[in-house]
Amino acid sequence: MTHRVHNFCAGPCTLPASVLEEVRAELLDFEGSGMSLVELSHRSDEYDRVHHDAIASFRNVFGVPDDRSVLFLQGGATLQFGMVPINLLRAGERAAYVRSGTWGVAAERDAAPYGDVYAAWDGKPLGYTRMPTSTELEIGPGTRYLHVTSNETIEGIRLASFPDAQVPLVADMSSDYVSRRVPWERFDLVYGGAQKNLGPAGLAIVVVRSELLEGNKPEAMTYLRYDLHAAKDSLMNTPPMFAIYVMGKVLAWIEKLGGVDAMEERARRRSGLVYDAIGSSGGFYRSPVEPADRSLMNVVFRMPTDDLEDEFLKGAEAEGLVNLRGHRSVGGIRASIYNAMTDEGVDALVGFMAAFRDANG
Ligand SMILES: Cc1ncc(COP(=O)(O)O)c(C=O)c1O
Repeated sequence: MTHRVHNFCAGPCTLPASVLEEVRAELLDFEGSGMSLVELSHRSDEYDRVHHDAIASFRNVFGVPDDRSVLFLQGGATLQFGMVPINLLRAGERAAYVRSGTWGVAAERDAAPYGDVYAAWDGKPLGYTRMPTSTELEIGPGTRYLHVTSNETIEGIRLASFPDAQVPLVADMSSDYVSRRVPWERFDLVYGGAQKNLGPAGLAIVVVRSELLEGNKPEAMTYLRYDLHAAKDSLMNTPPMFAIYVMGKVLAWIEKLGGVDAMEERARRRSGLVYDAIGSSGGFYRSPVEPADRSLMNVVFRMPTDDLEDEFLKGAEAEGLVNLRGHRSVGGIRASIYNAMTDEGVDALVGFMAAFRDANG
């Protein structure tokens, strides 16, 4: 039997074993071509099918309306921090950013060279332990969009509902992509990397209102222009073929399990088990996050001392529970429970947490 651990990494992360097995089965000879998919031309009929099927599946599974373009790009979510203002902001317009945590701050910082950006709300004084309410947002005149991070991967907080702003929303959904429904009518654009809920690294998926691209020719090199990618169905240059191929399989797997609603139900149930283990530990485990804004994907918690946390991580690893260390900027423990995490993995973690508290509490 192949050795598989329970991988709680924040990304890249665990993928469904059935998908990996399919990839293995097709690796040397993709659909009778005598080549692997990664050896095929991106202009071949075989790849063309994989590519367009993946776009169709993404639309279908995520409920993307017909008036949106779905783009497959490289450069991760990080490149989108710059591409969003380059493509959406015109002279005289401003963009508001929610500084909800590490990634919201990074998005604003990378947008700043390309437009007049400002903070609509800053969670830093609160240590990024909660998201803002709609009424706390300060949105000034001339604001083209409000940028939010739907789930802050490092601090473990999420927007339980998207804000009611008087301006279109743009969201970085990297760490809860395709695990919750999106009220599309309020959004001009959402983006995120694939490497958490959807597949391997190397692919970012952008969903943008198509009418925004018509006649909009930003002054930027070709790769940075959404309109050019959209006109060529994300085949303007060589796309990240392997990541797109694997994502297509992950999307089929999500669909088989019941789609986005099933992913959200799973996420609530499974993160709930870990939050319950924290809440019932008599203070041994402690969540720094406001209960209403706790992430369903990245459960962060602290323990009485750094030494105990180190011991916890060592003991967990010995049980095959790996990559539980919190981000180096915040410390503590972080269990990332993305779409592909198994129920067995979560049960094993909760069991280990109880045993460790009993032994050390
Ligand atoms: C919410 C969020 N945004 C952006 C990023 C950066 O993504 P990438 O590494 O794909 O550029 C990450 C990475 O973890 C993330 O979690």
